[in-house]
Amino acid sequence: MSIAERGAQAIMPTYPPRALALVRGEGCWVWDDADHRYLDLVAGLAVVSLGHAHPAPARALLDQAARLGHVSNLYWSEPAVALAERLCALSGLDHVFFCNSGAEANEAAIKLARRHGREIGGAAKHELVCLEGSFHGRTLGALQATWAQPKKLPFEPLPGGFRHVPPNDAAALRAAVGPQTAAVLVEPIQGEGGVYVLDVEYLRLARDLCDEHDALLIFDEVQTGMGRCGTWFAFEQTGVMPDAIALAKGLASGLPIGALVARRLATGFQPGDHATTFGGSAPIAAAALATVDAIEQEGLVANAATIGAYLRQALAALPGVREVRGAGLLIAVELVDGDASQAATDLLERAVLVNAVSATALRICPPLCLSEQQAEAAVAALSAVLRARV
Ligand SMILES: Cc1ncc(COP(=O)(O)O)c(C=O)c1O
Repeated sequence: MSIAERGAQAIMPTYPPRALALVRGEGCWVWDDADHRYLDLVAGLAVVSLGHAHPAPARALLDQAARLGHVSNLYWSEPAVALAERLCALSGLDHVFFCNSGAEANEAAIKLARRHGREIGGAAKHELVCLEGSFHGRTLGALQATWAQPKKLPFEPLPGGFRHVPPNDAAALRAAVGPQTAAVLVEPIQGEGGVYVLDVEYLRLARDLCDEHDALLIFDEVQTGMGRCGTWFAFEQTGVMPDAIALAKGLASGLPIGALVARRLATGFQPGDHATTFGGSAPIAAAALATVDAIEQEGLVANAATIGAYLRQALAALPGVREVRGAGLLIAVELVDGDASQAATDLLERAVLVNAVSATALRICPPLCLSEQQAEAAVAALSAVLRARV
């Protein structure tokens, strides 16, 4: 039996049918089980920023695991402390909670907001204001913060105390935030919702309203963070300083990690408030540190900005493209004829991997090391696919 046939039998069918079984990767390339090579513009869903099989995180993981693996959070371990210091220095925030995924980073954010809200405003100050079109993960709290109703309905009842408003609607935000608000939780660029960039004035208003009502402003940077958008964090491009950011995807080259990075809150978590067995596990933290080092040494944040700008401009000029959205190497290509899933299939036949982020838009979120030639090849492939349709 093939890997695909075995997978269909042994793995729960929570994903649509998968197009390929991948067996090896190098940089921006991956190979399937028939040894066909593909240009990977998916990067494990905006995760593998250094490219596939980068030696630095692999070596750091092995070295640390061979010296001291997991010890639990009953004890300190150097890699987690060093990674926390690094994330604080990069973000300008000042303390970190480590977990294992983006959803868990958001769960921690929701709990921190409620802990803080209750401390300063009592039990009534517990509400989370979130945005229509948002995606924050699949655990129950993060799912309730998420907008898409079909993802939620089968699992109701979900936790209460969440309110959604349309993005970039100042009046709706003003009406929603009040003394009952514990936090406003937004993605500065809505990723899964279709790569929609929030207006800077809107984020500024969110900051002002949070200050006025002693609420936390939390940015979910699970997808936008760690250099993907051409700065270490998307918030740097807005001039708005959040109280906390949730991170995950690009942090450790595909190893499971999430982080909530927050400013020091006198009313933040106390011992016993929150925990997870694997959070900050030494080998994974070591691989994350090696990832951050390599992003820095190889100039990948700047590369994401430069190649991203080229891609956005070249893709927008293609006939058959209605609009291009995003920042750095987080890009959506809205198609005139609107069949993104067919376009993704056609690109697969031309050995280019992308995913349809909505019915009408493709998402391009390659490794941050994408070269100019690879970017040109991607544009040529999409151009050929779109021309063949006309
Ligand atoms: C903005 C955002 N937040 C949270 C998540 C959930 O992350 P995870 O799948 O690691 O739980 C995602 C995943 O796509 C995301 O894009």
